[in-house]
Amino acid sequence: MLCRAPKSLLVVALLALHAPAHADGDAVAGKTVFENQCASCHTVEVGKNGFGPSLAGVSGRKAGTLAGYKYTDAMAHSGLVWDSPTLDSFLASTTVKVPGTAMSVSLGDPVARSNVIAYLATVGGGSNAEPTPKPANAPLGRGPTSAELLHAGADRQNWLYASKDYTGQRYVDLHQITVANAPQLRAQCIYRSNTAGATQTSPLVYDGVMYFTIDQTTVAIDAATCRERWTSSWELKDTPLSKTNRGVALKDGRLIRGTPDGYLIALNMADGSLIWSRKIADPKTSQYLSMPPLVTAMPSFTGRPAPTGVRRTGSARSNSIPVNRSGDST
Ligand code: HEC
Repeated sequence: MLCRAPKSLLVVALLALHAPAHADGDAVAGKTVFENQCASCHTVEVGKNGFGPSLAGVSGRKAGTLAGYKYTDAMAHSGLVWDSPTLDSFLASTTVKVPGTAMSVSLGDPVARSNVIAYLATVGGGSNAEPTPKPANAPLGRGPTSAELLHAGADRQNWLYASKDYTGQRYVDLHQITVANAPQLRAQCIYRSNTAGATQTSPLVYDGVMYFTIDQTTVAIDAATCRERWTSSWELKDTPLSKTNRGVALKDGRLIRGTPDGYLIALNMADGSLIWSRKIADPKTSQYLSMPPLVTAMPSFTGRPAPTGVRRTGSARSNSIPVNRSGDST
């Protein structure tokens, strides 16, 4: 049956926690608790905040004091210090412990709490530590290859184009989800973005990673866990006519997308770094990019910029509209 990738951002695990009861907490089991229940909002990397502050070195830290993160007044003035008992009562019910906090979580299982607290004690760093230097740009990956793109219609692991494949038939022959079991579908994980803008994208999946757009931001997450791999934000160079972000195209380690201000850009799929950019539509003459790019065995193509107010034959998710060659110069 047709399996469409989810349209908006979502999810966190409802996995049962089979952690062994352990008075002092089991850090290994706690890592799993963290990944399932906390990682959608927190990292344990120094200097990298998500929706919540980085929890690197949180053990022993004074609450609400990590430089560079904007806490609620409730947290900033709570006067708490994150030792184990304080973390335990906070995680049991955050809004009881710190009324007015922006983190509304209740971890009912005391074993899970003690495990995740044991795990947090292992992730050092501290607010005063130097941020880890940004690694050099990752090498380009190899796929998806021309052959993979040509056979995207039969591919049951990946979703390589907004409308599935070059024919745009959007269908994949999978049988795991049936009318009978559809009511049992449950969210597996949630990705929550720091970008509050529109998400008009059809997410693509390649090799276990999901790629999508939110405004001028491009995001890669683990498709199975929603854990963020990278986000990459395009700095607007022009006032956009419309905040269109119709998704991405993938080929040979490169991700291609149109930006709201009319640029076609290529990012490294491995780390989101910019490879090239080219202006192809001018908001000043009422143009915007109304569809995701289509990459072929040839250089990349995208839909002809749509003048605003003009009704087009193709929609954002159709590849039946005329295409213009628009510069791939790598
Ligand atoms: C839905 C998002 C979300 C989830 C899930 C979440 N948190 Fe938070 N967390 C936040 C936010 C937002 C803050 C900042 C709260 C504020 O300023 O009031 C925060 C703050 C914290 C703090 C205080 C840090 C500091 O620097 O003072 C701790 C500790 C914490 N979270 C631990 C956890 C743990 C452990 C989990 C998983 C069991 C978790 N959080 C799950 C969003 C979340």
